[in-house]
Amino acid sequence: MSTLAVYPGSFDPLTNGHVDIIARGARLFDRIVVAILVNAEKHPLFSLPERVDIAREVFKGRANVEVDTFDGLLVDYVERRKAQVVVRGLRAISDFEFEFEMGNMNRKLAPEIEMVYLMTAPEYLFLTASRVKELVAFGASVAELVPANVAKALEAHLGQGGLRTGATESND
Ligand code: PNS
Repeated sequence: MSTLAVYPGSFDPLTNGHVDIIARGARLFDRIVVAILVNAEKHPLFSLPERVDIAREVFKGRANVEVDTFDGLLVDYVERRKAQVVVRGLRAISDFEFEFEMGNMNRKLAPEIEMVYLMTAPEYLFLTASRVKELVAFGASVAELVPANVAKALEAHLGQGGLRTGATESND
């Protein structure tokens, strides 16, 4: 049986930490779906089509990586896709509480879905999408932290005055 994994998130924006987890997930499972949350009430910086286009461009050479969107409960999406696994990355200990709570709630809702946690590579331990946006807003380079198309898109948002400083809603 081939294994389908779902890697859900806000990806606002996609960082090299996400790219690393996706690449490792693509080696572990037959196929991995990058499932981008619609974020109805989260006010993301990047629109849903922008986030989808960015991820599709980054993974266009990888046949077993798919980019999709989802709304509502993650477990409903995973069941609809007939996936067996949800992948999440774990950075510092601070991620654990959120993931523990979410993982256990998902398990209660759908015990047949297995959550798999990949430890973030050391170079991305302190990398968050929020921090990336903050760095760009203050004029720092994020070239080593995000794919090239994300850096370019961030510059474009900066030019339009769309970048806020300080912590943003998503921690990812
Ligand atoms: O990138 P993020 O913001 O850390 O991703 C969080 C995400 C999208 C995985 C999580 O918020 C989610 O699954 N949202 C969908 C609603 C849901 O299923 N919530 C969990 C039930 S307790």
